[in-house]
Amino acid sequence: MNAHRASAPTGGGCPLHDAAFAADPRQVYEKLRAEGAAGAVELAPGIEGTLVVDHGTALQVLRNTELFPRDSRRWRDLVEGRIAADNPLLPMLGYRPNTMFSDGSTHLRLRKAVTDSLAKLNMSRIRRDVEPIADHLLDQFSERGRADLLSDYAKLLPLLLFNKLFGCPADIGDTLTSSMSAIFDGRDPLRANEELTACLMELIALKRRRPGDDITSWLIQHPSGLTDAELNDQLVMMMGAGVEPERNLIGNTLLLMLSSSGGHDSGPQIEEAMDHVLWNATPIANYAAHYPVQDVDFGGHIAEANTPVLISFAGANGDPRLAEARGNQSKGAHLAWGAGPHACPAKDPAQVIASAAIERLLNALPDLSLAVPEQELRWRPGPFHRALVSLPVNFSPSPANRMAAHRPQPAPGEDRQPHAAQRDASGTGGAGGTGSTREPARKKGFWSTFLDVFRA
Ligand code: HEM
Repeated sequence: MNAHRASAPTGGGCPLHDAAFAADPRQVYEKLRAEGAAGAVELAPGIEGTLVVDHGTALQVLRNTELFPRDSRRWRDLVEGRIAADNPLLPMLGYRPNTMFSDGSTHLRLRKAVTDSLAKLNMSRIRRDVEPIADHLLDQFSERGRADLLSDYAKLLPLLLFNKLFGCPADIGDTLTSSMSAIFDGRDPLRANEELTACLMELIALKRRRPGDDITSWLIQHPSGLTDAELNDQLVMMMGAGVEPERNLIGNTLLLMLSSSGGHDSGPQIEEAMDHVLWNATPIANYAAHYPVQDVDFGGHIAEANTPVLISFAGANGDPRLAEARGNQSKGAHLAWGAGPHACPAKDPAQVIASAAIERLLNALPDLSLAVPEQELRWRPGPFHRALVSLPVNFSPSPANRMAAHRPQPAPGEDRQPHAAQRDASGTGGAGGTGSTREPARKKGFWSTFLDVFRA
């Protein structure tokens, strides 16, 4: 890899946005690898970039922040107005003032606040928090004998858990869940983004007044002294960076455990299956967009200055030089969590969440099986993720009574419904505890329904 002065023609990159890529991304990584460490790709129709597929080169790019900054305001096509405001790449690549898009001392300051706050998460508590949420979701479909584990379980569990980890009261949690889902599903994303910002500002104000044992309060209290706007940006980023890949880590691991090679009795154990997925069905497949300060020669392919250079975490994991580590499923060598200064600061909690969610599901529905042949499952198109469209399963129906075990037992003669003051003190209480002015008759969302069931 050499910094290079001359510019070279671009165009004709392998598409990463079409159905063929979603169906078989490996053939694209192999084609690029046959040509060199990196090659030209089309990120969206008409929008070119470079994808690094060689493991060693990926590490060099990820670690060299001077030659490869993250700030996407450098992106030449964007600066020169060739990318429309509604281009589907912008939610993932458009600049936001958060750790992902910052460099140098700004990145250090923001990242320290994020990593120190995430480090306060207690792994046993996460497991304990996952269980009632998993049980609540299981109760919604276990009597049916069939479900789509993506939309009925893997998609909702991280969203609801994040409400808990970020200390959301009922009404804020409802808006957070609905706006995040709308953003991920591309339903009126601009309006959803406004709603998300407003409800996070409300959460920040609440936690400034009344801190709790949650990530939002820890971020606020961090010595970096983040402003409200900075807090908002880091919270959005943590939720975005967490929810979607978490869903896919759960979904892809479940698929492996249920697929013909596995079958969840005879197949791999959860941790083993998760390691296999991190190597071979990497949830964040291609990301870490860098904008080199000058033209760079990747051994034949030239990435021009200020054009996106993405890392293929999935492609690098398939590098033939890693065959032995891959065979042993060695945890250290794969790039599923990124590497360098922007590596995922949440890999431990992320794995605990996924494994607790999978364990609870498999214990509750022991005869779970795929409802369609594995070859009929479809993968969501898009350059960044490795994500199933759906995961239909069948199982023996069972009664929807799991939440009963989580309800606090009232003392003899005591009212079952906790008083408003108790809800308030829990930090996840009803709208009355937030100082919110919202209408009391507001339609209940996922989070307040869960809290209600939990308390009923
Ligand atoms: C609890 C859930 C998660 C949270 C809160 C979280 C949070 C984050 C944050 C804050 C960053 C940005 C760090 C920085 O720019 O300095 C990041 C990066 C990253 N995360 Fe996570 N993450 C979570 C789950 C996951 C999962 C499940 C995966 C995939 C297996 C993943 C893979 C990555 C990767 C590859 C990067 C590096 C991206 C880049 O270099 O641009 N994360 N994560």
